Amino acid sequence: MAELLESVILGDGIQLRNRICMGSMMRNRCTDGNKPTHANIKHHTDRARDGAGLIVAEGTFISLNGAEWPHAPVMYNQDHSDAWAEVTSEVHKVGGKILFQPWHPGRIQNDNMPMLKESGYSVYAPSKVPAKGGKYRTLEELPGHTDNITEIDDPRVIVGQYRHSVSLAKSARFDGIELLAHGGYLIHNFLCSHSNTRSDQYGVLDAIIEVWGSRAVGIKICPTDDYNDTMISYEEMKETYTYFIKELMCRDLAFINLSRRGCDVGRETDDYFRSRPRPQGKELPPKYEPLTDFGTLIKYPKSRAMLMVNREYTVEEARDLLQRGKINLVTFARPFIYNPDLISRIKKGVPLASNTRGGKVKYGPFEDRTRITIIGRHLEGRVRLSPVRQPAPSSRSYLISSDNNI
Ligand SMILES: Cc1cc2nc3c(=O)[nH]c(=O)nc-3n(C[C@H](O)[C@H](O)[C@H](O)COP(=O)(O)O)c2cc1C
Repeated sequence: MAELLESVILGDGIQLRNRICMGSMMRNRCTDGNKPTHANIKHHTDRARDGAGLIVAEGTFISLNGAEWPHAPVMYNQDHSDAWAEVTSEVHKVGGKILFQPWHPGRIQNDNMPMLKESGYSVYAPSKVPAKGGKYRTLEELPGHTDNITEIDDPRVIVGQYRHSVSLAKSARFDGIELLAHGGYLIHNFLCSHSNTRSDQYGVLDAIIEVWGSRAVGIKICPTDDYNDTMISYEEMKETYTYFIKELMCRDLAFINLSRRGCDVGRETDDYFRSRPRPQGKELPPKYEPLTDFGTLIKYPKSRAMLMVNREYTVEEARDLLQRGKINLVTFARPFIYNPDLISRIKKGVPLASNTRGGKVKYGPFEDRTRITIIGRHLEGRVRLSPVRQPAPSSRSYLISSDNNI
């Protein structure tokens, strides 16, 4: 019977200390030329030191972009790679494993964001279909995502950018790759009929496999997604993802990370990604859980791909799914922010701390820095991490938080 805290081998030799993965989280801290800073190193290393089995680094852009995160990392030259090498080196020193997550935002961009405005580089997407909605913190006067889209003429150019970026990730000594294919960004644009009206070949995943080998590569998908104008009908979802997952399985990947964003899971940690009721024609079956339709396409006897799940899982739920053989790995994302000692807590049976800052946790040098509530006091700015102590009077009695330390 698989257990959360037991060690396991991912792919062909990525030795994980346990089955708990820290999900990829953009923290807007790359304030030095879009390279990781000391804050990125500390954030990842703290979690690795406490024993996180696997860490997926924040989504990292493979090229110039006009996404909403001006302080997101990029990876397209040696300088970027050298800066990331400092992160991976520190994570490795404390026994952690860390994956690189290549990201192209596709149609979720605005050409008025500085990198695009200054360079004149285009917003590339599969088809010239603007995404509805969006609002850019730093473009207050303007509407959201651009309608100034350049339809990708020769997909090999973008595929080449992915190949280059993941090669740099290799020289930065990441342990593998998680391809970002959810959230309404480029790869996801190709997966929805309303954002992709073309029918040619693309091949990003195969290019990544050429560089890394399939057993060091995984992919993060979210069939039920409702973020960034991605919602599709249940019928389209089932047909597309059944086909897509079967294609993925032919590639002998290390893992598939299945997100359930867009599903009503009966609880919400905060309103950062709160799923709204789905409109007519896009409803899901009551209490829908994507594992029902897609779990056995990935996890079956002799399958070599691990099934990782994410979004709003609790420790109890993950433990139960593991013990029943339904999953191999679980991701916690937001809980790792306010529980840098998440693994210690699970080991000691200490309840996880909850988010006392609501959806205002924007994590970055933006104006809406939030007041931080700790044990009834309001503090502004930096607060030092305090280690877990036992026994626990209540999960909120410890910790944490500051824009730089969490
Ligand atoms: C602040 C923040 C930033 C995120 N950035 C990314 C990202 O860069 N790439 C990605 O694939 N998912 C990103 N996510 C989604 C998380 O990886 C995860 O899928 C989601 O938060 C659900 O897991 P949770 O309920 O355990 O938080 C982000 C989530 C948060 C809260």
